[in-house]
Amino acid sequence: MNLRLDATAVDAPPAETQAATAAASPKSSVQKTPERTIVLRINRGEAGDVAGRWEDFEVPLAPGMVVLDAVLHAQSHQAPDLAVRWNCKAAKCGSCSAEVCGKPRLMCKTRLEELDCQSPVVVGPMQTFRRIRDLVTDVSWNYRVNATLPPFRPRADRDWRWYQRDVDRAQEMRKCIECFLCQDVCHVLRYQTEVKPQFAGPRYFARAAGLDFHPMDTEDRLGYLSHEGGLGLCNITKCCAETCPENINITDNAIIPEKERVVDRQADPLRAAFRRLFGKREHPNAPAGS
Ligand code: SF4
Ligand code: SF4
Ligand code: FES
Repeated sequence: MNLRLDATAVDAPPAETQAATAAASPKSSVQKTPERTIVLRINRGEAGDVAGRWEDFEVPLAPGMVVLDAVLHAQSHQAPDLAVRWNCKAAKCGSCSAEVCGKPRLMCKTRLEELDCQSPVVVGPMQTFRRIRDLVTDVSWNYRVNATLPPFRPRADRDWRWYQRDVDRAQEMRKCIECFLCQDVCHVLRYQTEVKPQFAGPRYFARAAGLDFHPMDTEDRLGYLSHEGGLGLCNITKCCAETCPENINITDNAIIPEKERVVDRQADPLRAAFRRLFGKREHPNAPAGS
């Protein structure tokens, strides 16, 4: 559905009404363009309220308007207590993540006229994380996961020069803006809450890969990924990569290469022994033989 056409069809008064209005105001030389509006349906609630309640707001539609504009219009004109988190309005801070018409998206990057959903435009908080209020969720769990990831451990004995292709490979993973939309969409985190403590999620598989791909890194994260990180629980549905606003190819360029490395390690004991002697340091929590 084209929202622009739909808004026109729904909100423009009939032609006879416009003509009557113009006739009733003979002194006015300027024809006022009828205001086009959309209905924004926002899920609201207090902390811990999973289902929440839906509230509708009629918001004027302007060219180029994004979902965040509409939400902020509702907040400033109709619901000053509506909680919404945002900072940059430039798709760079990762704060304005929400579910718009059932899909995890950045509200500041989602143009109303490009939405493929029917009016009303439905906006709710990310479902994978606990609600703090209205559209604001508590994403602190992600930072705790991040703290468990073995950090960058640079070589001391080598010149810091490497090939551009190696830079590019690591750099792709460093484009992450920590919006956590990939974590929100991943079915392992979203629906299998019992495994959440054993699954780092796509954001951290990408981060681990970005560190592992760095030519100067000496840390070994395979033990972490295959045990605490729960990489084996990912069944490569690619939803995370399709959702990422930075277009990081999380599945093909991070998860699959890391899974291959885990399998190589498990299937080739000689290689594992060689790496233990000469290669990357084992993560201290890695069980023997990982
Ligand atoms: S590919 Fe793996 S990490 Fe990404 S959404 Fe699917 S199950 Fe989750
Ligand atoms: S990998 Fe992409 S979707 Fe996931 S947190 Fe980073 S920017 Fe957001
Ligand atoms: S407000 Fe910063 S990403 Fe949307």
